[in-house]
Amino acid sequence: MRRVVHFYRSTVGKKVAMAASGAVLFFWVIAHMLGNLTTFQGPEKINAYAEGLRTFGEPFFGPGQVLWMVRLVLIACVAIHVLAALQLWWLSRAARPVGYHNPPHLELSYASRTLRWGGVIIFLYVAYHLMHFTLGTVHPDFRSGDVYHNLVVGFQAWPVAAVYILAVGALGFHLYHGVWSTFQTLGLNHPRYNRYRRAAAAVIAVGLFVGFVSVPVAVLAGVLR
Ligand code: HEM
Repeated sequence: MRRVVHFYRSTVGKKVAMAASGAVLFFWVIAHMLGNLTTFQGPEKINAYAEGLRTFGEPFFGPGQVLWMVRLVLIACVAIHVLAALQLWWLSRAARPVGYHNPPHLELSYASRTLRWGGVIIFLYVAYHLMHFTLGTVHPDFRSGDVYHNLVVGFQAWPVAAVYILAVGALGFHLYHGVWSTFQTLGLNHPRYNRYRRAAAAVIAVGLFVGFVSVPVAVLAGVLR
């Protein structure tokens, strides 16, 4: 444990913690997007899927227990990701209180700026999203357990759908730059492979974006109702 804490104290340790927690969140987001696509199979499927998440692990675990274990892992990953990001930002500011006159590595500073602001937007979005579809406090007609109804009614208000589409766009950029900067941290930046690295990051980001926006767009288009 002491060795882990010692490693975390270094800049590389913080970057590795960011990459590892980011990777867990990344795979969870992919699973969430794929789960959302069951909405296209109708109300029974998506509602059964959501119920399946709540009862997962029964009879060995009680209702909601596995779900809460997953939630705790996710919360820990978000906390590590945010804490390491803030500490790295403070470290870089402390190292250079006055900015570069001619900033070097323009690409790098562009990526970290986008990551920082994208991270703030995604954080605020998730807070709103939980109040909207999980707690239902900001939903006009929330019905516990009827995810299909909640989605269709929620996205029929176009400004709400627009917020989701913009937030998922910010997530796409965040993942694109996140994957890119993880390769940078790992030192995988050989010019010969950079092209493939960018293409891979772009395909993942665009795939997630399209998968997520398909639900609000289908509601607005009247395909899901
Ligand atoms: C258009 C895009 C999205 C749609 C339609 C959507 C839909 C939903 C729905 C319906 C739920 C509630 C499920 C239930 O209570 O059974 C949910 C939960 C959640 N969503 Fe999303 N989501 C979207 C994007 C995202 C994104 C981009 C993130 C994260 C960056 C996210 C994070 C979460 C979290 C953390 C929960 C709570 C999960 C839990 O109960 O443990 N969602 N989402």
